[in-house]
Amino acid sequence: MNEKTRNLCSLICFFYVLLVSPSQSNAKDVALGCGATEPSTDPDKKKWEPDTKFLKTPDTVQATATYQDPSLLSTIPYMTARIFTAPATYEIPVKGDKRHLLRLHFYPSVYTGLNIDDSYFSVAANDVTLLSNFSAAITCQALTQAYLVREYSLAPTLKDVLTITLTPSDKHPKAFAFINGIEVIEMPELFDTAVLVGFADQTSDVKSANLQTMFRVNVGGQDIPGSKDSGGLTRTWYNDAPYIFSAGLGVTLQASDNFRIDYQKMPVSTAPADVYKTARSQGPNGDLNVKSNLTWVFQVDTNFTYIMRLHFCEFQQSKINQKAFNIYINNKTAQADAEAADIIAWSGGKGVPTYKDYAMYVDTTNGGEEVSLQMTPSVFAKPEYLDSQLNGLEIFKMDTMKNLAGPNPKPSDMKANEDAKKEFRGDKRVTAFVIGSAGGVAAVLLCALCFTMYQRKRKFQGSESYTSSWLPLYGNSHTSTISAGLCRRFSLSEIKHGTQNFDESNVIGVGGFGKVYKGVIDGGTKVAIKKSNPNSEQGLNEFETEIELLSRLRHKHLVSLIGYCDDGGEMCLIYDYMSLGTLREHLYNTKRPQLTWKRRLEIAIGSARGLHYLHTGAKYTIIHRDVKTTNILLDENWVAKVSDFGLSKTGPDMNAGGHVSTVVKGSFGYLDPEYFRRQQLTEKSDVYSFGVVLFEILCARPALNPSLPKEQVSLGDWALNCKRKGNLDDIIDPNLKGKINAECLKKFADTAEKCLSDSGLDRPSMGDVLWNLEFALQVQETADGTRRRTPSHGSASEDLGGGGGGGGMAVNVSAGEHDVSDLSSEENSGIFSQIVNPKGR
Ligand SMILES: *[C@@H]1O[C@H](CO)[C@@H](O)[C@H](O)[C@H]1NC(C)=O
Ligand SMILES: *[C@@H]1O[C@H](CO)[C@@H](O)[C@H](O)[C@H]1NC(C)=O
Ligand SMILES: *[C@@H]1O[C@H](CO)[C@@H](O)[C@H](O)[C@H]1NC(C)=O
Ligand SMILES: *[C@@H]1O[C@H](CO)[C@@H](O)[C@H](O)[C@H]1NC(C)=O
Repeated sequence: MNEKTRNLCSLICFFYVLLVSPSQSNAKDVALGCGATEPSTDPDKKKWEPDTKFLKTPDTVQATATYQDPSLLSTIPYMTARIFTAPATYEIPVKGDKRHLLRLHFYPSVYTGLNIDDSYFSVAANDVTLLSNFSAAITCQALTQAYLVREYSLAPTLKDVLTITLTPSDKHPKAFAFINGIEVIEMPELFDTAVLVGFADQTSDVKSANLQTMFRVNVGGQDIPGSKDSGGLTRTWYNDAPYIFSAGLGVTLQASDNFRIDYQKMPVSTAPADVYKTARSQGPNGDLNVKSNLTWVFQVDTNFTYIMRLHFCEFQQSKINQKAFNIYINNKTAQADAEAADIIAWSGGKGVPTYKDYAMYVDTTNGGEEVSLQMTPSVFAKPEYLDSQLNGLEIFKMDTMKNLAGPNPKPSDMKANEDAKKEFRGDKRVTAFVIGSAGGVAAVLLCALCFTMYQRKRKFQGSESYTSSWLPLYGNSHTSTISAGLCRRFSLSEIKHGTQNFDESNVIGVGGFGKVYKGVIDGGTKVAIKKSNPNSEQGLNEFETEIELLSRLRHKHLVSLIGYCDDGGEMCLIYDYMSLGTLREHLYNTKRPQLTWKRRLEIAIGSARGLHYLHTGAKYTIIHRDVKTTNILLDENWVAKVSDFGLSKTGPDMNAGGHVSTVVKGSFGYLDPEYFRRQQLTEKSDVYSFGVVLFEILCARPALNPSLPKEQVSLGDWALNCKRKGNLDDIIDPNLKGKINAECLKKFADTAEKCLSDSGLDRPSMGDVLWNLEFALQVQETADGTRRRTPSHGSASEDLGGGGGGGGMAVNVSAGEHDVSDLSSEENSGIFSQIVNPKGR
């Protein structure tokens, strides 16, 4: 493909995104910005209109939030609210014979003259109670998110109006109701009956039911934002990893890009093709598979019936009884033995999607507050492959006597102190992945934004691996085992072949683990291969589980671990290859062209995003422990990727509590002084190191330069010193002089300074850092006049769930480092970072 065609493609794709996302929604659908005075468009291109036209109650209060939470990615519809101190109604015209999706948006913030903790209210849609004694503040606090989206699917009523009533609680003095946004979306009748699990031949009538969406997951795949949902229903689908309970995560499967999903008679709005094109299965080892269940667990309210919709599509096998498996819900058999699940038998063929609906009543004697889903191969059916598979899952709460309201989360779940909060945050199952969560919406908004930004910024430098980069966040086109998230075990002969028998000419770096070679696998995929020191004492075996786990960390801003080799006495780790090398080699002591300020900002943002994902986005909190400019690598499109995370030390220390004490590991010049003093590791140690990286980017000098006068040796200390004296300008990279907007510089330097706070508590989270850097970029772009749309500032939630993954290539070079671990013994070799709180769930 030549340059012109590429540019044309980029243009077409760019406009495709602009045009397709907004045009999918139906004209009759409404999105109301409550309390808004003018129509507006959110960054996801959804149009919101003021609510006044539909509000039937006079004398209500319109309010503006006085505080914009950094994790609030869109001001619309969240920064305005409608406040009610007495019952109030909205009337929205609808087609009475249709089912409707209703989304309610709440941002429990500071509204002038009101204490949000006083807000308790109920919400009804026609005669169905959706929420009762509802406190958005308590709920958001428990979920540690800034705002909340509740989604309902309402059965046809035969009335041509949907009446939404908000009623302040009469049990609480000063109680008031509020709401920020209301969406009503007409949907096809996607429901019929569901098999009542555990009661042979009984079914539950879902067609007439009102439902609340509890969970909606794209099993084995990435988050799918509302703009990429099918049928214009703007539903968000989240990655399922946070809900996996079993010891093994199974393996993720992905159909090739051009694989076509043949919906046949099934409505396309059932689920987007991306749901059916990815799956999770138990893995290739059938003998192991039959001994265990792949298990997911979800938190729900007790005393309700839940509808579980399991989405399936076979894209590998095409014959009946090639895969047959049992399905259990809350330990009860849903499908087994003679009725084992067989996707091909159900769907009729490869590439044809299908789904099954099951109903399960959850009460104290059955599940309590949990719904579990388990799958294991059916030995009875004697299939060709002993494996089980799931592509997507939706869990809906069904109304009981026109009620869907559950209690607020228990106060006991929300310990006020910081530590507890941290732990709570660690439990991803309860936090960021609840359906309709803030993160989700945020993800949608930011992803759309990033996508378009990337299209604009991408420069084609005649790189060989052009194919990898179309959709950096969703549905990316890099399809190999790499993006499928399989941790591959390579044979030594494969590795030897790919590196010309570890030829020295292929060495691209030397790190703690050993030499790093450039290599080729699968007849063309470039990889970086780290070969262990032969005298390294730690065997790879003990790391295997962890390698599995790390290889599943797929994110646009992380260098992916593709697999490993522990064959013939050699131990190797195989990573993506990154063609532009380390950030450091672009900053100083280099013959390479100077990086522009904007590119530096973008690299800083990308790395911050990668780190933020390690800290909060994965199943475990992962502390990198060695953040530095040689561990930030650049792919052929200048996308920054964090490398060298992983291979944590597991041991008794791990369960010690909120922190981990361990041998100090890191690089001089980047080391968190607090960590050094107290040997307690937290995410904030990475934040400190990242602060040094920021100054390195700004000043283009090493973190440690022993040849300078004493007070200047450590960049961290020196830059802080200059910043506080107000003469930071003197040490900025001369190449940047006059090119940085003053406000942008201030934001950047302030952020770096805060990262270097002596106490971890005073340092911002990576999410805050990210937000600030994005803000700085926005300021710069506005000043340069290069900004074409006004996105809301991003925080990081987009990355929960793992991003694009397949970005191509990575080199890992870390030569010339003063590694602390180099000084202190073999005990450390191979420890790169630390997984904290591995209890999973
Ligand atoms: C669930 O129902 C049982 C039996 O009716 C009742 O005792 C229990 O309090 C209910 N739990 C909740 C949380 O409503
Ligand atoms: C799988 O889960 C079901 C339901 O909990 C259980 O009955 C069965 O024994 C499990 N199978 C295996 C192999 O663990
Ligand atoms: C299913 O069985 C497991 C193991 O016996 C138990 O811990 C769990 O609580 C059960 N779940 C339900 C929903 O009954
Ligand atoms: C309302 O919710 C609060 C907070 O969860 C709870 O303490 C209170 O008991 C509830 N009141 C009623 C009447 O249910």
